[in-house]
Amino acid sequence: MTLIGQDPKDKIIERFARHVSSGKANFFAQVGIDFVFARREGVYVWDLDGARLINCHSNGGVFNLGHCNPRVVAALKQAMEELDIGNHHLISEHRARLAERLAGLSPGDLNRVVFGVGGGEAVDTAIKLARGHTGRPGIISAIGGYHGHSGFALAAGDPKYSAPFEPLPPGFSRVPFGDLAALKESMGENTAAVIFETIPATLGIAIPPEGYFTGVRELCDRYGAVMIIDEVQTGLGRCGEVWGIDTYGVVPDILVTAKGLSGGMYPITATIYDDRLNPFFDENPFIHVSTFGGSEVGCYAALEVLDILEEKGFLEHVGEMAAVFREGFRGLKEKHPAILEETRQRGLMMGLKMASEVCGPLMTLAGFRHGILTIYANNDTSVSQILPPLIIEEEQAQEVLEALDAMLSEVEKAMEGV
Ligand SMILES: Cc1ncc(COP(=O)(O)O)c(C=O)c1O
Repeated sequence: MTLIGQDPKDKIIERFARHVSSGKANFFAQVGIDFVFARREGVYVWDLDGARLINCHSNGGVFNLGHCNPRVVAALKQAMEELDIGNHHLISEHRARLAERLAGLSPGDLNRVVFGVGGGEAVDTAIKLARGHTGRPGIISAIGGYHGHSGFALAAGDPKYSAPFEPLPPGFSRVPFGDLAALKESMGENTAAVIFETIPATLGIAIPPEGYFTGVRELCDRYGAVMIIDEVQTGLGRCGEVWGIDTYGVVPDILVTAKGLSGGMYPITATIYDDRLNPFFDENPFIHVSTFGGSEVGCYAALEVLDILEEKGFLEHVGEMAAVFREGFRGLKEKHPAILEETRQRGLMMGLKMASEVCGPLMTLAGFRHGILTIYANNDTSVSQILPPLIIEEEQAQEVLEALDAMLSEVEKAMEGV
């Protein structure tokens, strides 16, 4: 028996609206999207009605290795024969093994790991550690950045998601991303941490200016603040190296990884931190726990993800596909000068910056007609995020580029009358 399509589409949508989210269902009805995530395999997802899309959203990197990657599925099946989540209070062979692997893949002295379930939780842990370590309250983040919807992560994000939930925890402030002078201005002896995504996706795949992170590192050192880098989207090969921040040659004090670590199969996240910060957790070993964080079954999915990532040729493949897109983007820019203002790219972390804030949503809609799942950046809707699975092959990349060409033409036409 298949689990997919046990009910007709209209019944599923009605049930979803009644019991999961009437607001989301209304939104999709209004914009004319009735896509129901059905079959999935490799770079493809299918609607329940059969339409096939190449997934260029990848849930922000969850599906770096494609959907239902057979190796991750096999590892998980095997783990499920012998293991379960384990006990989060006790010593764990499997968490220890995964932590050692993550430490080995991380730069500098990032040798310690706290596991979690979601990215927001992993960011919360990073901020807790920064405050615990420094004894200071101040947390500085980027205007328009995104770190999740849980406690401290929410406070570090855009007020449009947090305003209804005020009062928020105090001590949070924001600066424009990429502006070192503004960061310097806002730092002081109360600054516990600076937290940035390596490339803020929700802000529109904002590529940092040359030397930015070196400057952030220097400022953190100068003020004794902790440098937290959110690699939830940019990590695990997305930017062409293991971590996006590696491509800038900078070592943070805390690095947060999530989405892709699960292989899209089992939720697991990690807050990886420098040995230097360890005394805080050493003295307070039970001050932060998470029942499902670092589930032993999930550790095996993650270990397989890391095996694949470290295999010879994997990151080279990302580089090759990035070159295919770079070349294709050049052609798209020449062909659509009126609408395509800028292409943004670091490896396969890519964005198309267009002429107006309505363009991103129009591109998303056009994508459904042209076989591409792409989502616009929520804090800059003029940008379409293009994050295909890292396992995409050249022929599929060309298919994406052809579809983007047709989608841009459609959006161009729609914009003519505006
Ligand atoms: C950069 C970044 N950080 C943190 C998060 C939060 O992750 P989660 O949704 O797993 O809580 C996200 C989610 O999209 C993200 O993109």
